[in-house]
Amino acid sequence: MRLRLASRGWTLSGSGHQSPERKRRVAGKRDIRRKPARLRSGLCSRGRWPLTGRCSVKCWLACLVGSGLAGLVATNLAGCPSETPSSLIGDTTSLTFNNTTDPTNANATYLTSAACKACHPDVGAEQGGHGHAHALTRVEGGPPSYPAAATRAGVPNPPPGRTWADVAYVIGGYFKRGLFVDQGGYVMTTGVLGVNTQWNLAYPRNGTSPGFAAYEPTLPSPQPFDYTCFRCHVTGAQAPSANNPQTQDNRPGMAGTWAEPGVLCEACHGPGSNHVPRPHARGIYVGLGAENCGRCHALNDDPNVILAADGFIQSYQQWSELRASGGHSGFQCLMCHDPHASTTYDASGLLNDCTDCHWDRTIPLHTGKVFVWVDYVEPVVCRSCHMPLATKNAAIAAPAVVGDQARLGDTRTHIFRINPDPVDYQTMLSADGSHVVKDAAGRAAATVDFVCLRCHHGAGSAPAFTVPSASQIAENMHARLAR
Ligand code: HEC
Ligand code: HEC
Ligand code: HEC
Ligand code: HEC
Ligand code: HEC
Ligand code: HEC
Ligand code: HEC
Ligand code: HEC
Repeated sequence: MRLRLASRGWTLSGSGHQSPERKRRVAGKRDIRRKPARLRSGLCSRGRWPLTGRCSVKCWLACLVGSGLAGLVATNLAGCPSETPSSLIGDTTSLTFNNTTDPTNANATYLTSAACKACHPDVGAEQGGHGHAHALTRVEGGPPSYPAAATRAGVPNPPPGRTWADVAYVIGGYFKRGLFVDQGGYVMTTGVLGVNTQWNLAYPRNGTSPGFAAYEPTLPSPQPFDYTCFRCHVTGAQAPSANNPQTQDNRPGMAGTWAEPGVLCEACHGPGSNHVPRPHARGIYVGLGAENCGRCHALNDDPNVILAADGFIQSYQQWSELRASGGHSGFQCLMCHDPHASTTYDASGLLNDCTDCHWDRTIPLHTGKVFVWVDYVEPVVCRSCHMPLATKNAAIAAPAVVGDQARLGDTRTHIFRINPDPVDYQTMLSADGSHVVKDAAGRAAATVDFVCLRCHHGAGSAPAFTVPSASQIAENMHARLAR
């Protein structure tokens, strides 16, 4: 074969397929300090907006406009509702992938990831370190294994009173928690088994130590692990229907089928049977728009609604949050994320850091400050304030430790915007607490109990504040306190 797979991209000898643009994108990805190259080459350097030096937000606006995203930017500048314009969804003008429109790959069938890894071993190795690859694991008589780099990952034991022989699958166990599916295809719940059935991983950011916790304690009947539940945790999920009356593995709880457990290659690229015999036709789907990720990273049927419960944003909603972020509302997830590399355990999973675009911003008041809380250490950076842990996946910090005012979940929000007013989460959420409130322009914002008090609760190395005192400092913080 003429192809030599180099690192995560590839080098082609004697093939004209790889445009210079693509080479630069791949080169840009290798060196994290040069990551903006990916964006510059992808969007900015198409001749229309030649750039030298760094890419400022102003230049970004120019780039976005130049890329046919004028609608998005104009909408945001005018402060009108920030609907994601259809021009952005699946926008491919600047990218060179061949099939960005047909996720079925001309009605191909699934081959599973072992086939893909044979020719794409580097992507395979990298993707194996992403949570996606561990979203669902079949149990073979003992605990599932996780990559060594995933230092907090692992589900050592099944729930009390059960053995591994009782467990068919483990869901997750990679970055926040693990759940167990029994041999009948039902999720083990506290309501049915009468013991704690959710394994929480260590999460020093909010003081969670590893151990079992309750899962669905009030649910009296068995919880099927069916399509509605597994559709985001597998590859090639099929809903049960007249055409597909099957249950996966013939387990009664698992209505619907999948091609492979875990979110693997064909979950995003579609079935591969037509690509493999003719790879150079490049007829395999590469979805660039945020909605491709939003298929699983949005909990509600309507991604314009961000669901909440118990005073926290519910998890799995990064797409819905991003759409409510004002300035970032039309972004692809790929502007910040490498689709194959974890952000949890692998720094290279983040393609562009905040200051790659907001290069003229500095950290207000906290330059060089490091937050320490028991064994958690966090140098204060942009995301420390702008992506507070306003979301709950597995566990929140106990009020006994952080006080009644601080709000500290376990998942960073993608809303990015901060409301500096002296109000708390009750203002951020609707009166019934079921969803996040947005302004007339469709934007949400995190309140200072999430943003500042998650560190400034007094138990760690930052002094304790209240909502009013934090608000006073937060107001117009960058302009007043830049350093
Ligand atoms: C027989 C080897 C082979 C196998 C097996 C294989 N690929 Fe490829 N793949 C290639 C080659 C070669 C290219 C580059 C083609 C080119 O640029 O001419 C490619 C390109 C791609 C691309 C980029 C498409 C584009 O438009 O640039 C994606 C995505 C991809 N493969 C995914 C997969 C997935 C998913 C699987 C498993 C179902 C898979 N590949 C299996 C050889 C293979
Ligand atoms: C088929 C459903 C599905 C799709 C499509 C999907 N995700 Fe995920 N994603 C998940 C699930 C499930 C998890 C939790 C995995 C686990 O069990 O740890 C997850 C976890 C993640 C994580 C955290 C895990 C880590 O290792 O850092 C990131 C980041 C992420 N997804 C980004 C993306 C991006 C970006 C896209 C689009 C390119 C995307 N996802 C598409 C289902 C999906
Ligand atoms: C709409 C897609 C979607 C559905 C449906 C879904 N999940 Fe998830 N799940 C995700 C995503 C995305 C993540 C990780 C990102 C996050 O925490 O926001 C995740 C994370 C998890 C985790 C933690 C994984 C880890 O490694 O820490 C568990 C456990 C889990 N889901 C179980 C379930 C169960 C049980 C169901 C069915 C009742 C379910 N999920 C239904 C998308 C989904
Ligand atoms: C969460 C979704 C997702 C999963 C899972 C995924 N990919 Fe991709 N892949 C993408 C996206 C999106 C791109 C385009 C990336 C870009 O523009 O930089 C891509 C690009 C590629 C490319 C071409 C560019 C490159 O980075 O080399 C190849 C080849 C590829 N994927 C193969 C694979 C293989 C093999 C697997 C499984 C081991 C896999 N992908 C799993 C979303 C995914
Ligand atoms: C403007 C940049 C940016 C964009 C756009 C973006 N992300 Fe992220 N995302 C981040 C950063 C930074 C982190 C790492 C936070 C941390 O340090 O834990 C992250 C973390 C995550 C996590 C793990 C969250 C956690 O706390 O465990 C998931 C899941 C995720 N992103 C999914 C997505 C999806 C899906 C999209 C598109 C809908 C998206 N992101 C768009 C910057 C971005
Ligand atoms: C790909 C470039 C890019 C990246 C990466 C990026 N931003 Fe932005 N950001 C923009 C653009 C463009 C805007 C809209 C113009 C503006 O408001 O200045 C924006 C707007 C914002 C806003 C104002 C939102 C509003 O409408 O009120 C905040 C806050 C913000 N970004 C924070 C961050 C943080 C924190 C990160 C890192 C996690 C980040 N950005 C990463 C380009 C980027
Ligand atoms: C990631 C944790 C973290 C976040 C989030 C955070 N801070 Fe801090 N803050 C610190 C640390 C650490 C210090 C330094 C404490 C020291 O060294 O005495 C500090 C110092 C301060 C100081 C100086 C206090 C003094 O007595 O010198 C003020 C004022 C302050 N922060 C306000 C805020 C406000 C307002 C917010 C929210 C917009 C915020 N901080 C968000 C960690 C944080
Ligand atoms: C200590 C907390 C904190 C840190 C760290 C922080 N910001 Fe902010 N930022 C804020 C607050 C609070 C606001 C809202 C101020 C207001 O609306 O009056 C804000 C507002 C913004 C805005 C919206 C426009 C504006 O100026 O009001 C942008 C863009 C932004 N920050 C980018 C960044 C970037 C980029 C970084 C990292 C270099 C960063 N911020 C670090 C607290 C922080």
